[in-house]
Amino acid sequence: MSLPKDLLRVFYDNRDRWVTETELSENLQVSAETVRDLVQMLQDNGYQVESSPDRGYRLIYQDSLVPEMVIPGLMSRVFGRREYFFYREIDSTNNRALELAAQGYPEGTVVVAESQTAGRGRRGRTWYSPPRHGIYVSVIFRPQLAVREVPRLSLVIGVAVAETLETAFQLPARIKWPNDILINHRKVAGILSEVATGSKGIDYIVTGIGLNINNPLQDFPDDLRTAPTSVMAEKEAPVSRVRVLQELLMHLENRYYQLLEGDFNDILNKGKSMSTVLGKEVEYDSPDGLAIGLAVDIDDNGFLLVKDKFGKIHTVTSGEVYLSSPPTPSADPAL
Ligand code: BTN
Repeated sequence: MSLPKDLLRVFYDNRDRWVTETELSENLQVSAETVRDLVQMLQDNGYQVESSPDRGYRLIYQDSLVPEMVIPGLMSRVFGRREYFFYREIDSTNNRALELAAQGYPEGTVVVAESQTAGRGRRGRTWYSPPRHGIYVSVIFRPQLAVREVPRLSLVIGVAVAETLETAFQLPARIKWPNDILINHRKVAGILSEVATGSKGIDYIVTGIGLNINNPLQDFPDDLRTAPTSVMAEKEAPVSRVRVLQELLMHLENRYYQLLEGDFNDILNKGKSMSTVLGKEVEYDSPDGLAIGLAVDIDDNGFLLVKDKFGKIHTVTSGEVYLSSPPTPSADPAL
């Protein structure tokens, strides 16, 4: 039992109303003096607790990803419920989740940070991770899958992220194979999965997801490869990151168990319907360098099939694809 956590829980259960000192001390079974010390402790840790001589205390609701705000509203049964690690600042949630996975933490362990000092993107890039605006989350998976089936998991995650944005905010989120999530051709989320294999196959997989939520567009660095957007820019209003995270963990869990139960077909069809590249001419990394072809399908492994000008089908298993004639995103995503 931890008293500051218990106090946070009481505040959470009574959010939007004042709680008297007497109520708090009775609830926690501590003296009024201890209540004052605990409140001070929360304030020292960055929580905004208002106090009033007549009314008592009130926690100002912040859209904070601390466990007390996220866990009570989780709709997932496992993800985020087993272990939920929260950091105000960390180098990279993927680094931390990889350490935890190596120490044996179970599947469904979640690592969340309010900001990252060395957020990692794919292909050695960095992930822009300013405090409070985005969601930076990593999840540990321990799938009973053959190594060759791992790319399917990549599609599972892409579908889960895109459908979170689609169902929670009615946003037309699309998947740019393999792992970028776009809205109106602008990148709103990125996914970085890292696999550790042992003698028996997959040991664990850490999947890190970065979502741009309440970022003002003008704050993004100028040198991003793909024009960025955020949910706030698309909806023209800030949204609750707590809600996005809760929905995301639910969709991830549902789609992941669907994969484990052998129903990849439904995920594949959803992924195809959300794809930005199918039917388009793309440039892709081939063993002979950059090649061009028509993206015609995603196969049963989650690989992209590209038809060259001679009609030959090439299987693209990894790397990045670029649209040969990328559409120009509108200057104002709200338009
Ligand atoms: C990409 O599009 O290049 C992938 C970006 C992945 C970013 C996320 S943020 C949470 C997790 N921690 C990291 O350091 N990276 C991933």
